[in-house]
Amino acid sequence: MGTPLWTTEAAAKTRGEWKTEYVRPGEVPFPEENPYTTEKVNLGHKLFFDPRLSGSDYISCATCHNPSFSWGDGLPTGFGHKMTKLGRRTPTVLNSAWGELMMWDGRFESLEEQALGPMGAEAEMNQELGGIVEELRAIPGYRTLFNVTFPGEGISIANIAKAIATYERTIVSGIAPFDRWVAGDETSISTAAKRGFDIFNNKANCVSCHSSWNFTDSGFHDIGLPDDDIGRGGVVKNMVKMQHAFKTPTLRNVVQRAPYMHDGSLGTLKEVIDHYSEGFTKRESLSDEMKPLNLNDDEKADLLAFLLTLEGADPVVAAPVLPANDQVPGAWLQRLSPAAGGQAETAECRTARLHLRRCK
Ligand code: HEC
Ligand code: HEC
Repeated sequence: MGTPLWTTEAAAKTRGEWKTEYVRPGEVPFPEENPYTTEKVNLGHKLFFDPRLSGSDYISCATCHNPSFSWGDGLPTGFGHKMTKLGRRTPTVLNSAWGELMMWDGRFESLEEQALGPMGAEAEMNQELGGIVEELRAIPGYRTLFNVTFPGEGISIANIAKAIATYERTIVSGIAPFDRWVAGDETSISTAAKRGFDIFNNKANCVSCHSSWNFTDSGFHDIGLPDDDIGRGGVVKNMVKMQHAFKTPTLRNVVQRAPYMHDGSLGTLKEVIDHYSEGFTKRESLSDEMKPLNLNDDEKADLLAFLLTLEGADPVVAAPVLPANDQVPGAWLQRLSPAAGGQAETAECRTARLHLRRCK
């Protein structure tokens, strides 16, 4: 007997059916052009935290994409080179392995392409890309790390990007109470949160954009924030629905990333829910999925309870030890090097050299 498709009741999915749409994937996808290696991850981890990648030597990727703020910076909009205030809020890099187009407006096509953007951007890290290669080549530890990671290739712009992107793909949100519920543990989330899940998928229709285990369709939508930024409209110029459209962000660990939206204009999840319920700007570009929801206070509280179940127990992120700057001034090197006519270096002399003392 087939299911009658012409009644809305038959079309509505049950809670159990909805749950199956949010099952976590078994593994992280890595692209063929830049496959996973542990060496790349370790090197990318160092580069991500190394402020020497910036022109001023004081801003690293992690300055803005700070693991302590779920890989954002906790600010409405961040600060870059010389404390330049940026135009948009720093998005998280969490779960970006599953991302498609990068940035709020999708102007970059991959993490590899994206990684080079901020280093060169004057307002962000203000570094000349050629300069970075030179700077890293001058650091003996990086020469070794790149040679081991990319045998026969060493330090290049493309390899810097590959290592950083591979590291970013390993930044994955941990198992949340919600995941345990989806996996069958009825006690892992509250009854209110379960009602919130139903509201998310049905009455509030959040799922039409925040879909799948990572709570994003990777698409671009105008959700009626009143600012002037046209977002995706700056990239796709002639499509009405792309004006004021921004990339749907993941909702994993979202409680850790206030304030919200591309402009950081909504301070709390309660304000976000109020926005969707009754607060958005109506204009031609507004997504067709945006309708006043008029949720009552109980429904709003349930929805909030649900969003809080998406916070996972993420692994602690270690601040990596970075390769030291070269400790041997050129003239000393000549004096110490056997090739320059000196004696082979003894262990004692090596220790002395590393402490910038002369060896007798
Ligand atoms: C000064 C702050 C700042 C620094 C430093 C910075 N970023 Fe960002 N990052 C941002 C902002 C702001 C955006 C969004 C800009 C936009 O969409 O127009 C962004 C976007 C991104 C995105 C896209 C995320 C998505 O979901 O689309 C990735 C990935 C990223 N940055 C990685 C990096 C890496 C790697 C570095 C270091 C090489 C870095 N960022 C340095 C602020 C920063
Ligand atoms: C039409 C698609 C769409 C619908 C429907 C939708 N969202 Fe969003 N959501 C987005 C987009 C796009 C953004 C980013 C908008 C921006 O910054 O301009 C966003 C941002 C958010 C944020 C902020 C995340 C962050 O990191 O800044 C939260 C929280 C959120 N949505 C929750 C919800 C909830 C809860 C619902 C249902 C009541 C919902 N969304 C319905 C597309 C949608």
